[in-house]
Amino acid sequence: MIKGVIFDLDGVIVSTDDLHFEAWQFIANQEGIPFDRTINHQLRGVSRMESLEIILSRASKVYSNDEKQSLATQKNEFYVRLLDQLSEADILPGVKETIRLLKQQNIKIAIGSSSKNARKILKKIGLLDSFDAIIDGNDITYSKPHPEVFIKAGQALGLKPEQCAVVEDAEAGILAAKNAKMFAIGIGPASLSKMADKTLLGINELLVGQAFLDNK
Ligand code: BG6
Ligand code: MG
Repeated sequence: MIKGVIFDLDGVIVSTDDLHFEAWQFIANQEGIPFDRTINHQLRGVSRMESLEIILSRASKVYSNDEKQSLATQKNEFYVRLLDQLSEADILPGVKETIRLLKQQNIKIAIGSSSKNARKILKKIGLLDSFDAIIDGNDITYSKPHPEVFIKAGQALGLKPEQCAVVEDAEAGILAAKNAKMFAIGIGPASLSKMADKTLLGINELLVGQAFLDNK
């Protein structure tokens, strides 16, 4: 029986994809490295440093650790400036209603995100106080598909893995949920995932009541 739902943040609660894209594009242009939306898509759910490694794998020169650190810092400074434009209007359709519905049903809710900017983003969109637990990139050593973020979120809710469902838009996140032995719900791009236990086109489909909880 599901007693808690752990939400990924980027691409599930709020769409920050274009902002990450813009910030990485700035770095890639500056360094003369090819970068496009297909490559950006591979960065979903992946930590900042691992994302940088994916981008640099197309570079013609080898970067030192100091140079990599500096590029990651530059990307984040650019990205954080873009985050300033976020507001409640950027919450994805169905999110607020879903949160309300789950709370009414006494289902605990958490954020399980790879982002170190998760709290900043939640504050900007006015949802910082809406979750029972927030585990983000600052709390973990290993990035998705490692299950650490979801295991810690489940523990923070006081629940066993089999009592938790995860909502994810990234394949790495679906794998992380399965590695955590949790029920994995794929939405958006992850609605195509073969590994997901259930796929939905958007979070608003969770609203079709108890559906996914009853089906379990
Ligand atoms: C994930 C995003 O939520 O957070 C990734 O899907 C991003 O694209 C990762 O790289 C890390 O984000 P941040 O904000 O710590 O750079
Ligand atoms: Mg995501």
